[in-house]
Amino acid sequence: MTVDIESKLKETRVFYPSKEFSSKAHVKSMEEYEELWKRSIENPEEFWSEIASELFWFEEPKEILVWNEPFAEWFKGGITNISYNCLDRHLETARKNKAAIIWEGEPGDQRTFTYQQLHREVCRFANGLKSLGVEKGDRVCLYMPMIPELAIAMLGCARIGAPHSIVFGGFSAEALKDRINDVGAKIVICADQGWRRGKHVPLKANTDEAIKNCPTIEKNIVVKRVGESVDWNDGKDIWWHDLIDGQSGVCEVTPVESNHPLFILYTSGSTGKPKGVQHSTGGYMVGTYHTTKLVFDIKEEDTYWCTADIGWVTGHSYIVYGPLANGATSVMFEGAPNHPHEGRFWELVEKYRINTFYTAPTAIRAFMRWGEQHPKKFDLSSLRLLGTVGEPINPEAWIWYHKNIGRENCPIVDTWWQTETGCIMISPLPGATPTKPGSCTRPLPGVNPEIVNESGEVVPLGSGGRLVIKQPWPAMLQTLYNDDERYKQAYWSQIPHKYYAGDSARTDEDGYFWIMGRLDDVLNVAGHRLGTMEIESAIVAHPKVAEAAVVGMKDDLTGEAVCAFVTLKMGIEPGDEIIKELKAHVDKEIGAIARPKRLIFTEALPKTRSGKIMRRLLKSIANGEVASGDTSTLEDHGVLKNLTDLASGQDQD
Ligand code: WTA
Repeated sequence: MTVDIESKLKETRVFYPSKEFSSKAHVKSMEEYEELWKRSIENPEEFWSEIASELFWFEEPKEILVWNEPFAEWFKGGITNISYNCLDRHLETARKNKAAIIWEGEPGDQRTFTYQQLHREVCRFANGLKSLGVEKGDRVCLYMPMIPELAIAMLGCARIGAPHSIVFGGFSAEALKDRINDVGAKIVICADQGWRRGKHVPLKANTDEAIKNCPTIEKNIVVKRVGESVDWNDGKDIWWHDLIDGQSGVCEVTPVESNHPLFILYTSGSTGKPKGVQHSTGGYMVGTYHTTKLVFDIKEEDTYWCTADIGWVTGHSYIVYGPLANGATSVMFEGAPNHPHEGRFWELVEKYRINTFYTAPTAIRAFMRWGEQHPKKFDLSSLRLLGTVGEPINPEAWIWYHKNIGRENCPIVDTWWQTETGCIMISPLPGATPTKPGSCTRPLPGVNPEIVNESGEVVPLGSGGRLVIKQPWPAMLQTLYNDDERYKQAYWSQIPHKYYAGDSARTDEDGYFWIMGRLDDVLNVAGHRLGTMEIESAIVAHPKVAEAAVVGMKDDLTGEAVCAFVTLKMGIEPGDEIIKELKAHVDKEIGAIARPKRLIFTEALPKTRSGKIMRRLLKSIANGEVASGDTSTLEDHGVLKNLTDLASGQDQD
């Protein structure tokens, strides 16, 4: 038995849910959890069919799971619509006049939509899409700020069976173009501009730039958000308000088979272009519905806030689909946590009496840096549950969150999952699971993970290894858009018959999972996945660059930051000028999230004799560690020494 990943972190503190919390929770004790989990793993079809029956189906599924490894068809033959389940289903109940979305804009403007109002807006927009000739199966790309129209557009697309593909508003025109072309979208939806810390983000201008080279785009629907004038293309552009003007507030849903794709969301992989993760309708709906209910212990009277951007999977699953399928009140916020002041989030918690707050470790580390005086200024007593997602949370940050935001009174759910898994996979159940800072604890019902070595053998307790999932689950990705081969290769080829998540992890004596980080060439910058390859390709595309290698370096705030080793073309001098140029270049090619924090110029990169860049060594250098380990395959040892000297001398912070 080889153990090839070492685990160093040991954390011994344990926090128990209060009796009061447990007594009201959906799952009230570890015994109850254990029993539920066991049943769900032994009889997954029975378990998931029970959950599915809590939702609305025009026709019941004929089969719960058809599994042709690695392709799953969940709830096959079932006819449903997620827009119906998120909206229409609630209109027959007292929820019809309950707030579905409470929205606050960055400048402080507010809009609230009851389920009935949201239903009407979604219908008007869906009718608008139909009037443009959008049909079931057509792809629609959304490149929008965090405004209610984004949620309305998603639900509108889903209503008529048009898969949406959301591109985070922080991406560049170039990144948008690639994603639109890969998915072959017919329509793009953007806003004139977006707000970002008082400045304007040129979403319409970026979209114009992108769609010059997107032959499939027929129309660009533009929401007026900021109100400054923008360039206009009469043939292609249409204002959102003009499109919905006069449209009926009733739009029958288009019933779709459970495996009809609901959306495609691009995420970074280790090689080549981003992966178009494709999710189903029925399985995804059941997964997000169930996990929102259990993990966030959603109650009818809760006001729930997930601070993610809908451009990432967290926003898809836990701002829009999961909460609305549960008939919950979901808060949506357009702004930044530190604009116009560092207490903005806490001001919102006080103002809307938020009960459940879900954010990312990188945000928590920023709050820590800004200081506890900010949350102290506000009344946070409404909070009863806290959550985190996106990267491992350091125990100090966990404890800070617990003390300063939770007032030692709120369970914290550290939720592990991925764009590909669609919904939360490993997480405490807040009324049942004792928590340990830094651990995402135990798998949810229906989820069967384990830790294996390179050869797929289960590693001994406490040893690090590769995290895999042994059984299919409803919200799993269906495939990568138009690329079944890459889907098989990326997730089902490393370890036979198991889903390979790409993370390293260990378990402890209580069966708790501790995620240690990524195993592939993917960086996790502020909870955002970035492929090193993509950033390298962007840098190398600059005319002055000969070669580049990108690695992650530790960063107190963002977890990891981008460090690029760059060899310039002959005759080009390194210096401030080129640093600026290359940073701006990455902004343009991918977006500011991928901008290298540090650029190290070198005459040569350490390579193996077969010419492979030895990133492992570069990573040590970037992190100020001694580049140890096996260097026997290194072609030129001089390169390593030069680099180590260089790295210690060039700091650009
Ligand atoms: C990491 C975000 C530790 C992990 C929902 C995973 C985490 C990647 C956690 C997916 C967590 C996410 N603890 N690591 N609680 N949550 N990760 O696709 O490396 O943007 O593979 O999905 O983030 O990132 P993605």
